[in-house]
Amino acid sequence: MDAIFIAGDVTSRGSDENWALFRECLEGRDIPPEKLIMAIGNHDTWNDESVEAALNNYIKNRTAVTSIRSDKVYFSTTVKGYHVICMGSEGDNGCSAIITDEQIAWLKDELDKAAKSGKPIFVINHQSLNQKHGLPVTWDADESSSTEPWEGGIGDSSDKVEALLKEYKNVLFITGHSHMGWTGQEVTERRHFSSVERDGTLNLLNMPSLACGNHHGVWSVIGIGGMLEVYEDRMIIRPRDYHLHIFNTEYPVQNGKPYFEIPLD
Ligand SMILES: [Fe+2]
Repeated sequence: MDAIFIAGDVTSRGSDENWALFRECLEGRDIPPEKLIMAIGNHDTWNDESVEAALNNYIKNRTAVTSIRSDKVYFSTTVKGYHVICMGSEGDNGCSAIITDEQIAWLKDELDKAAKSGKPIFVINHQSLNQKHGLPVTWDADESSSTEPWEGGIGDSSDKVEALLKEYKNVLFITGHSHMGWTGQEVTERRHFSSVERDGTLNLLNMPSLACGNHHGVWSVIGIGGMLEVYEDRMIIRPRDYHLHIFNTEYPVQNGKPYFEIPLD
């Protein structure tokens, strides 16, 4: 693998104890710091002391385990010439994100730079755009509670982020947060949402939770993630169980196949 993307929530409450557990998970796994690319999640902004303490802890520990050097939660990097842009909430806003206009201006600059490569652009943010991937009803495991349109998504700045991302070709917006398992083809046909969606030219990938349970998927067990392969004309996302070391072969997820395919323009 050329890189490991983590779409946030590596901790439960941003504490030193939580970060020690995360570092323990990395021990002995031969993951070079430059291959670990992670965005901040809402849980990482929570702390028993203060938001500032959580954010400082986040940046301190990200610096310890990755090669990212930034005093902000958001940053960009490259993997084999492909641009990877990690957005992130700049404070605690409950379950949604605080994406400032300053960050959106930075995102535009980064997308402009990345677009010059002619290659696909990977943008990672913990929360998906509002009302994608079946949100807001899929925010709730059994869809029993009343939901606001923004629930489970970025929140207030979602429309601005969406409009900006849609100005570029071949963007893959990678998110998590909603604990949605890998959706099967049947739910896509019946309910019109999926872990992998395309809106105009924008491609959206919502990752399952690795370790805290999932719902709304045909494959929702603990330990799942996905393998992303990038080719000249397409990207492939293969649902994988990292605990059992197996790819999905059982469930058709798109066009009768056990993997998702995104054509490149
Ligand atoms: Fe989250």
